[in-house]
Amino acid sequence: MCGIVGYIGFREASDVIIKGLKRLEYRGYDSAGIAVLNGDVKVRKGKGKVVNLEKMVAESGAAGTVGIGHTRWATHGEPNDVNAHPHTDGTKNFALVHNGIIENYDALKKELLAKGHVFEGQTDTEVLAHLIEEIQKVAKTDFETAVQMALKQVDGTYGIAIVNKNEPDQIIVARKGSPLLLGIGDDEVFIASDASPIIEYTNKVIYLDDDEMATITREGYQVKTISNIELSKEVHELEMSIEQIEKGGFPHFMLKEIHEQSQTIADCMRGRLMVDQNRIVLGGIEGVLDRLTNAKRLVIAACGTSWHAGLVGEYLLEYIAKLPVEVEYASEFRYREPLIGPDDVMLVISQSGETADTLAAVREARQRGALVLGICNVVGSTIARETDAGVYTHAGPEIGVASTKAFTAQVTVLSMISILLGQRRKVLSEADAAILIKAMSEIPGKVAQITEKQDEIDHISRLFAYAPNFLYLGRSYNFPVALEGALKLKEISYIHAEGYPAAEMKHGPIALIDEHMPVVVLAVTDHTNEKMISNIEEVRARKGRIIAITTESNHDVRNLAEFAITIPDTHDVLTPLLTVIPLQILSYQIAVYRKANVDQPRNLAKSVTVE
Ligand code: M6R
Repeated sequence: MCGIVGYIGFREASDVIIKGLKRLEYRGYDSAGIAVLNGDVKVRKGKGKVVNLEKMVAESGAAGTVGIGHTRWATHGEPNDVNAHPHTDGTKNFALVHNGIIENYDALKKELLAKGHVFEGQTDTEVLAHLIEEIQKVAKTDFETAVQMALKQVDGTYGIAIVNKNEPDQIIVARKGSPLLLGIGDDEVFIASDASPIIEYTNKVIYLDDDEMATITREGYQVKTISNIELSKEVHELEMSIEQIEKGGFPHFMLKEIHEQSQTIADCMRGRLMVDQNRIVLGGIEGVLDRLTNAKRLVIAACGTSWHAGLVGEYLLEYIAKLPVEVEYASEFRYREPLIGPDDVMLVISQSGETADTLAAVREARQRGALVLGICNVVGSTIARETDAGVYTHAGPEIGVASTKAFTAQVTVLSMISILLGQRRKVLSEADAAILIKAMSEIPGKVAQITEKQDEIDHISRLFAYAPNFLYLGRSYNFPVALEGALKLKEISYIHAEGYPAAEMKHGPIALIDEHMPVVVLAVTDHTNEKMISNIEEVRARKGRIIAITTESNHDVRNLAEFAITIPDTHDVLTPLLTVIPLQILSYQIAVYRKANVDQPRNLAKSVTVE
């Protein structure tokens, strides 16, 4: 969701910024723009892709070594050339890019209109630019102070970067709610919404926190609070590599990430799943293990795919650790006076670690005294930093908007937490723990066997690529996987798809089934097998087209289904780590057949930083 890149140094700013904006494309956007200082403020911007901006810059020029750039995901005002960022003030002295939402923009705009300001577009960002201009004019302050004063009047969230022709050797940035980091090089500083545009230049970064701003020059930076208190910030070292954010020969990031899963699950378990010692070591939550072990209940909060992982976690934690779990949509959590307090533990799950709704749930629960733990993928992300403790998924950068490897890594962490708590709560015998730990150690190899079946799944994808609807059914641990399969398909192929607990089919969705309806059933050999077979019969009786994801040993399901995709047998509770893989491949292939933009589906953003 919206991306910011900025540069001050000795290189051509537009080269660094456009390359950086391309790296941020995965976040989702509808327009792009750049402002470079060179005596004047040169703004180039427009609706559409960064390549269009690149052409515009090549044709009209934007030379200079100080600049800012932006990819916009529309919130206020339609996606068009005028509403694209950067926005200038009325005097055109400075240009500003902004991620987030200024909630009181309407009231501010009315005041500014009354004072004679004229606006070109409909965005909240342009209002902020004019507000800074107005304050500087009236209060006769220096520019940095005017920015501080304006930000104090703003309700909402922002990550901003500003270049000013009257301060040609600096960029001002500020953050509240929208991530921003600085990359520190030699005689150059980079600014970005996440590390991907920076990693090829430097691995030294500073994460800005909320209510902080920085004035950046070629020689360095000065960080202070919006209230002007100087701060000394820790410089972190990035562990990410440039290879991790490139496609590595795959046509799409999503396919690369699907194939990476045998490796990412192994990475997630490395040093944590101790098969020889029959134990799990999770360093990130060691300090809070007693409180977690003795918790009466656990509240899991997350959004989207991470919420689905949370639902799998509910089954795992209740079955293995006998710990009562409630799974909440993070977006709903704080709007209903949640009953959570100092005796409770909340676990939030987020790939990006920046999802605004999940972050709001973290803050709400912490304010009410709960212990809040996180499962995050992005190291150093806001949620990772604001939770009391947590476990990183170590899946590496996930660039495809549709989450794949993050989901399996999240479920891997949840499986490990369940076993660890099961042992500590003395509800899981050593023998059963050994069976589970061994089964987990075999998962990466089994995932690789499934990704090798890509061609086998292809003919099913081709056949159903133009189906208008899909139904996904699962029971128990595989009910959340049915939800996840449906979400994957709708996100990237734009086919309407619904996931249901299989037994719910007869309470409504069965009315939809006819000879045109593909029904994906997750029918592994477990305690739900008989019931799933009955559901398959019910669909068959109405001529529905059964695509079964089933275990190799399940001959009954294989014989009944019109199409069967098999996964290797594993422990029942771990089947979600395998059943989800063919669903990811199916969605991917269907989207490719439909010529959809797999990695950057329409209207979606990778990191949803607005509520
Ligand atoms: O970064 P997060 O895990 O917090 O993101 C949550 C959702 O926005 C995310 O899972 C979304 O649903 C994905 N597009 C799913 O593929």
